[in-house]
Amino acid sequence: MNRTGSDGTLPHRPDVLMPAFPRIATARLVLRAFAVADAPAVQRLAGVREVADQTLLPHPYADGMAEAWIESRRAAHECGEATDLAIERVLDGTLVGAIGLAFEPGRARAKLGYWVGAPFWGRGYATEAAAAVVTYGFETCALERIWAPRFRGNAASARVLEKIGFAHEGCRRRFVAERARAETVEQHGYLRWEYYARVAQCGFTCEPGAF
Ligand SMILES: CC(C)(COP(=O)(O)OP(=O)(O)OC[C@H]1O[C@@H](n2cnc3c(N)ncnc32)[C@H](O)[C@@H]1OP(=O)(O)O)[C@@H](O)C(=O)NCCC(=O)NCCS
Repeated sequence: MNRTGSDGTLPHRPDVLMPAFPRIATARLVLRAFAVADAPAVQRLAGVREVADQTLLPHPYADGMAEAWIESRRAAHECGEATDLAIERVLDGTLVGAIGLAFEPGRARAKLGYWVGAPFWGRGYATEAAAAVVTYGFETCALERIWAPRFRGNAASARVLEKIGFAHEGCRRRFVAERARAETVEQHGYLRWEYYARVAQCGFTCEPGAF
């Protein structure tokens, strides 16, 4: 399958206008464009040390940063640089995290990134959201490869990636110097043919309990 955007353009190409923000529904979540009204929740959830420690998010997460970041996401999507989505729980409309693909210019490759607020950990939300975004990346954006970096100590993220089909590909030693630490980054990758092989074999879905 080699799906293109609704206007026939390949969404992963940065030189073409991206279609509207996707809205992706899973069993318990909706992945949608951020709105400025999400800013207080983003600041509250992304601003805690446990989330910052495993990401490149700023810390402290100062007033105004969430609004500026949300505002920047629209332009990033429109120019094909990145598509970042809010993870909202359908049950009560609560924002539980963020997930996105950062597209490599001129390549059918993207980097997957995500965080879930600490009060919502361990409920399968990251796995459910990441599985849905991977499907979007391969089926709608026609990507050939999605990759995901994580800090070596981030076992929860490693497990999320393993559950949805990523392979561990190796590491880059002391690759990121953040907050006075030299972090080794483990890299995970998922190829288009692997995704479709998995779909054919398991009837892979984004349902909770499918992982
Ligand atoms: C990593 C993160 C996204 C996981 O979110 P989540 O919604 O709790 O993830 P899920 O519930 O879908 O899955 C977590 C899996 O990791 C496992 N896990 C959690 N902590 C673990 C640990 N210390 N060691 C091993 N496995 C662990 C869980 O048991 C679960 O696996 P299971 O379903 O087989 O039991 C969340 O912890 C987070 O946002 N952390 C801070 C930011 C971050 O790390 N972002 C990713 C950067 S690469």
